[in-house]
Amino acid sequence: MSTLDLKSNIANLKSASPPGPKAHWLTGVMRDYQNDPLGFATRCAREFGDIVSARFLYVPCFFIYHPDHIEQVLVTQQRNFIKSVSLQTPFMRRLIGNGLLSSEGEFWKRQRRLAQPAFHRERINTYSQTMTAYTERMLASWQTGETRDIHEDMMQLTLEIVAKTLFDADVTDTAREVGQLLSVIVEPFSYQASFKWILDNRLPTPMNRRFHRTAQRLDEIVFGIINERRASKVDRGDLLSMLLAALDEDGSQMTDQQLRDEAMTLFLAGHETTALTMSWTWYLLAQHPEVEAKLRAEIESVLGERTPTMADLPALKYADQIIKESMRLYPPAYAMGRQALQEFELGGYRIPAKSQIFFFQYVTHRDPRFFDEPEQFKPERWTEEFVRQLPRYAYFPFGGGPRLCIGNSFAMMETVLILVAIAQKFSLKLAPGQAITPIPGITLRPENGIKMILEKR
Ligand code: HEM
Repeated sequence: MSTLDLKSNIANLKSASPPGPKAHWLTGVMRDYQNDPLGFATRCAREFGDIVSARFLYVPCFFIYHPDHIEQVLVTQQRNFIKSVSLQTPFMRRLIGNGLLSSEGEFWKRQRRLAQPAFHRERINTYSQTMTAYTERMLASWQTGETRDIHEDMMQLTLEIVAKTLFDADVTDTAREVGQLLSVIVEPFSYQASFKWILDNRLPTPMNRRFHRTAQRLDEIVFGIINERRASKVDRGDLLSMLLAALDEDGSQMTDQQLRDEAMTLFLAGHETTALTMSWTWYLLAQHPEVEAKLRAEIESVLGERTPTMADLPALKYADQIIKESMRLYPPAYAMGRQALQEFELGGYRIPAKSQIFFFQYVTHRDPRFFDEPEQFKPERWTEEFVRQLPRYAYFPFGGGPRLCIGNSFAMMETVLILVAIAQKFSLKLAPGQAITPIPGITLRPENGIKMILEKR
């Protein structure tokens, strides 16, 4: 649609704003959202429908829930949108800088082009061995009867995998430290959109100082990996080598700062999300022994005692369905946002330029219009027939359009392989007496981890 068409369409619209919750004159809906982000987003959808107007301080925001509207923003009219302001806060800028997740325009296009080959299917296939080898190495230290924080284990495992596959760096020795640093650094994101968040981002509060200290230590580790590689001058064929070798049109190379931003983005985007998928999957499996039994039967018939390889993936259909269903109920990226460049039309409403548009995987994935018994964990629902009739953006754990997650195939392969390699050897039972609460920060994490008791098969 041309800009002219867009303008004439908008001129014919009703001028009323979409309905929305009562907003405080100063803070808007900030406090209600902050008290319970997922509950608030869910209630808004129930009470006000597919397009909801919700102001945060002076910033006009819209929550959108319908797959067709999400598709309009992410795909058909994507040129009218950039990433939302949540990626522009000082903490976020300090963390991932101008890496793939947050950059825009021609610069983003170039970086995406450079990074893409590392994620091509043939290339990812070569990573499968690292994924299973690292999983088996972890399992060798597991004892039957012991209680472990499975979320911590999954975080360490996926961090080691992403470091080895994309940067050919063995972080086994530093993985625990990096894991701890990352979990400290993402802490303040659990109270985004609050006054505390605004102040901590800008003033030298104790949290602000802790954040910057942690970022500094993380930088030292990442710059260490970059410097080592620059000094060795060996092309190891991994993503870091490709980024190091990449030349701009004017012949200049990527700066250390840009390399650091890309590396930090990939560490963060590539390990916590997959770790969370695994943590939530173990949590769900422990509550559904019938699903676990069916998974075990599939493993027995496809693999027996053999280590899974990527060639086995097409046959591990039920494992794939389990992961899909787990990401439906607990999408690690539980919400995403965009900012409108120009005024646009959505579902008959006129949405002003500079509005922040938010969509919630957590809510749309549980919409009874698209998912029968939406609160139930039912991997069986993911038949080919079901997928064919599902509106494209009723399920979007990896986002969509040109900014679709670059690591989606990587993540699907990794999570299925880890699931199968572990379930082949252990059964995981929830340790009694814990309340598992999903906390929406940058991603959807279990508040105090997930303690599980190991039972050797
Ligand atoms: C289950 C695992 C994962 C989930 C749920 C997930 C989710 C997402 C989502 C929703 C986006 C889109 C954000 C937006 O458009 O605003 C995204 C982008 C991205 N993801 Fe993932 N991701 C996962 C795994 C990975 C992995 C394994 C990597 C890399 C190793 C990765 C790297 C990235 C990067 C670099 C982007 C930005 C892409 C761009 O804008 O060009 N992700 N991810």
